[in-house]
Amino acid sequence: MRGGLLMKITVLLASHRRNKNTAQAVEFFLEKLKEGNEIEYVNLLDKKVEICLACDYCRKHYGHCVIKDEMESIIETFHKSDLIVLATPLYFNSVTSRFKIFIDRTQILYNAKYKLNDPIFKEKKKVVIIADGGAPHYPGQFDGIMTELKHFLGNINGEVMGYYKYNHTDETLIKDNETARKELTEAGEKIAKDLKNN
Ligand SMILES: Cc1cc2nc3c(=O)[nH]c(=O)nc-3n(C[C@H](O)[C@H](O)[C@H](O)COP(=O)(O)O)c2cc1C
Repeated sequence: MRGGLLMKITVLLASHRRNKNTAQAVEFFLEKLKEGNEIEYVNLLDKKVEICLACDYCRKHYGHCVIKDEMESIIETFHKSDLIVLATPLYFNSVTSRFKIFIDRTQILYNAKYKLNDPIFKEKKKVVIIADGGAPHYPGQFDGIMTELKHFLGNINGEVMGYYKYNHTDETLIKDNETARKELTEAGEKIAKDLKNN
């Protein structure tokens, strides 16, 4: 805990639908974390995040992007967070396209760290990943998520504290999935304790 202050938890919602499975999974996870902590939702549906222009501006301008939209302020929010929750549905075996657009724009962080040798995220950032796929289990269903997130996690110096994934959500909604509820609320409770003890 930061001097008795609240923990700041930022939730990145990458679903293209509001209040559906991904959001429901997040609410289960937050059940025990909401009390005593500050929660900020970054719903990509509400954020103006343009596609990366691959212009290399951020290679010459440390920590800045040529595009003036909401991306830099989201990165600032991430930077101030004690825990970041990344929540995405599976779209074609990977994260959603909105999430991919967001990830590409963290090229600012990539260039700062690997090209300008001065990482913006200097300290480890705790991260929890929640993913849901509509189809029943099939081999490799969720493999693309971690492949996609690997470099992004490097950009934010992310340390994954938990990765929770649920399939068949088109048949059984997360909100009706008692196993998911139990696992996610327990995970949130455990992380609440871990954060307080750090
Ligand atoms: C464009 C698109 C691609 C999808 N691709 C997959 C997929 O590859 N594997 C899978 O299991 N489900 C896939 N789904 C189903 C979603 O993962 C599922 O409906 C999920 O619950 C959506 O999250 P939401 O309920 O928060 O909107 C896809 C859905 C859409 C719209």
